[in-house]
Amino acid sequence: MLTVTAPAKVNLHLEVLGLRSDGFHELAMVMQSIDLADSLQFTNTADAQITLRCDDSSLSTGADNLVMKAAELLRARSGFNELGVSMYLEKRIPIGAGLAGGSSDGAAALVGLNALWGLGYTAETLESMAAELGSDVPFCVAGGTQLCFGRGELLEPVPPTSEGLAVLLVKDPLVSVSTPWAYQRCKERREQDYLQGEMAFEQRRRDLREAPWLQPLRAGCPPPLRNDLQVVVAAETQAVQVSLQLLQTLPTPLAIAMSGSGPSCFALFRDQDQCDQAAADLAPQLKAAGLRAWACSLRSDGVRIAS
Ligand code: C5P
Repeated sequence: MLTVTAPAKVNLHLEVLGLRSDGFHELAMVMQSIDLADSLQFTNTADAQITLRCDDSSLSTGADNLVMKAAELLRARSGFNELGVSMYLEKRIPIGAGLAGGSSDGAAALVGLNALWGLGYTAETLESMAAELGSDVPFCVAGGTQLCFGRGELLEPVPPTSEGLAVLLVKDPLVSVSTPWAYQRCKERREQDYLQGEMAFEQRRRDLREAPWLQPLRAGCPPPLRNDLQVVVAAETQAVQVSLQLLQTLPTPLAIAMSGSGPSCFALFRDQDQCDQAAADLAPQLKAAGLRAWACSLRSDGVRIAS
């Protein structure tokens, strides 16, 4: 048996540059892994059956789950049709939250099954298979702090941080946001402001690569936390408005934003102690508003074989 840890991410930066000819949005992002993680267990069955069970009954375990898609893709590429696996997913990352939980589970399936089935694919090959599964899946393979361009799948390294920054994450457990809906709304509301053409896109990529707050990430020069989907999603999602308002009442955060397409929002702190203190101080208000909270440290890696 093999167990793989699948961490969530937050967006330190999500900039919508424009539209692509494939209908996706051209993005310039900085994604950051955090230590809120799912766990995926694998048992080799060698009976040509790929099965998934999950401790959260609200999640589909059928062919539409990215874990199942990843397993089918890897087996098909390997050409060994007799391979089988029984998988068990323990969900900790909220679903439909803008935290890449499903994408990280898909990445965990690629990494775990590559090891379990002894296929020997390189990280590079796994990342290109990951891009076929979804825009955020390649980032989740290596994780840490990375620049993500294209539709999110083109990765560039960032100097590693040595500081123990932390995030307080909040989410309404009853609310989830559909990523296609968020991008569609963004297009409807902001298309007239979109940049046109590769030269304009590349200038914004260059600006982000050289952003002082990324050289490396540190409390002394905190990221401004930009998310272009935030204003679009918040306009129609009260849970986002309430989350941001509550986080704004805290005295010590370095910055506050929504993550991905929401509705999760987070505050960035200079260290875990300040983050834990903020979580304790805000607990009564969060409870009254029906919000859940997680105080998380930043991680310098993505999916990892735990045992
Ligand atoms: O790639 P992924 O499956 O995560 O994307 C989900 C949906 O989000 C896409 O079908 C598309 O509607 C939207 N999207 C987008 N531009 C991106 C990423 C996602 O428009 N760069």
